Amino acid sequence: MKILATGGAGFIGSHTCVALLEAGYDVVAVDNLYNSSEKAIKRIQEITGKQLRFYNADVCSRPQLREVFDSEPGVDAVIHFAGYKAVGESVQKPLEYYCNNLNSTMILCDVMREHGCKNIIFSSSATVYGLDMKSPITEEHPKGPCSNPYAWTKSMIEQILVDLHTGDPEWNVILLRYFNPIGAHPSGLIGEDPKGIPNNLLPYVAQVAIGKLPKLGVFGDDYDTPDGTGVRDYLHVMDLAYGHVAALKRFEGSHGVDIYNLGTGKGSSVLDVVHAFEKACGKKIPYEIKPRRAGDLPAYWCDPSKAERELGWKAKYDLYDMCRDSWNWQSKNPNGYDD
Ligand code: UFG
Repeated sequence: MKILATGGAGFIGSHTCVALLEAGYDVVAVDNLYNSSEKAIKRIQEITGKQLRFYNADVCSRPQLREVFDSEPGVDAVIHFAGYKAVGESVQKPLEYYCNNLNSTMILCDVMREHGCKNIIFSSSATVYGLDMKSPITEEHPKGPCSNPYAWTKSMIEQILVDLHTGDPEWNVILLRYFNPIGAHPSGLIGEDPKGIPNNLLPYVAQVAIGKLPKLGVFGDDYDTPDGTGVRDYLHVMDLAYGHVAALKRFEGSHGVDIYNLGTGKGSSVLDVVHAFEKACGKKIPYEIKPRRAGDLPAYWCDPSKAERELGWKAKYDLYDMCRDSWNWQSKNPNGYDD
């Protein structure tokens, strides 16, 4: 099967390309390198010993995307990772977020249709459940109002894809709702490479450990959680990557719209993460308690049993493994993909 991954050079996209090549798929990666590096593509090939075809193209450009599909006849399915993803930035630049994330998806689906490909997996997020989440969250949990434009783009794109299937039942749509993906490929050759000061916990902790940042700010220690800090369902990015490979098997039948939570089902606090990382890197992570971050929920984690039941997928790595692999990547690549 030939799989096209948009955003294939990005954090989750690159790890999924590794998993796809290992599973024997023919892989085409499309990325405009806006927030990623072509080095990731070389490293994917180094890890797997296999070749993929890379196109430096913007999914928002219909002519560029058409060229890719014309050059790659017979794409069986698309995994759509590409998109802007910074929560805080989306509040400052709503128009850019709505334009980029929604337009790219609509152009992608249109060009897929022109080329006879109607199987799509979309990178969605737990954030679509909104502010009133009851954990463990199942896929039946109603979607809620979102707290930022980034989250709304995920929620709206889900709706667009559901409507696409309603209008034309030949479309098969899989919405994967990721919880908190962290870690890196165990080789340390690919990993998360945020630009500037990281917003997310793991890359921040990793940069404190390597000495690029002086200390971590822990956003709130007065939540109603066991140690007072925020609780999330962290998931190893390789487990997440294997989740996509498992989901692709659904396209062998015709299933319409499927939704799956991808997480471990286990919540960990900010301090659990700090302590697991300290164990992994053998250093103390200095931290300071700061006020709560606006828009953060106290605690949530998923019920991943539907993915286990229907896809035969279950996360294998634990929090220590995630921190070990994140540290391995960070210590081998202190400046990410930059030399
Ligand atoms: N945190 C800190 N200090 C930091 C960064 C984060 O204490 O410097 C805390 C947060 O308050 C939260 C936890 O660490 O309790 C995780 O925060 P992240 O920013 O790493 O992740 P979020 O759960 O806020 O958001 C992530 C993704 C979003 C996605 C969401 C869906 O970044 O894209 O999960 O679950 F929408």
